Amino acid sequence: MSKVICSCYGVTKKQIKKSVKEGARSFKEVKGDTKVTKACGKCKKKVKKYTKKLLKKTAE
Ligand code: FES
Repeated sequence: MSKVICSCYGVTKKQIKKSVKEGARSFKEVKGDTKVTKACGKCKKKVKKYTKKLLKKTAE
């Protein structure tokens, strides 16, 4: 099971990954795609970090 990274919307790491895989190229785009950080915003740091990591990977 994939870890939930945003508990407000129940967004998992897997969903972030999918979003990036399908073309999201920035935190903003992931946000628009998955709704992460749009409620309490507590997950922002975590999602940003994770997105960065994924984008770095895809750039390689
Ligand atoms: S945990 Fe992501 S908006 Fe609240």
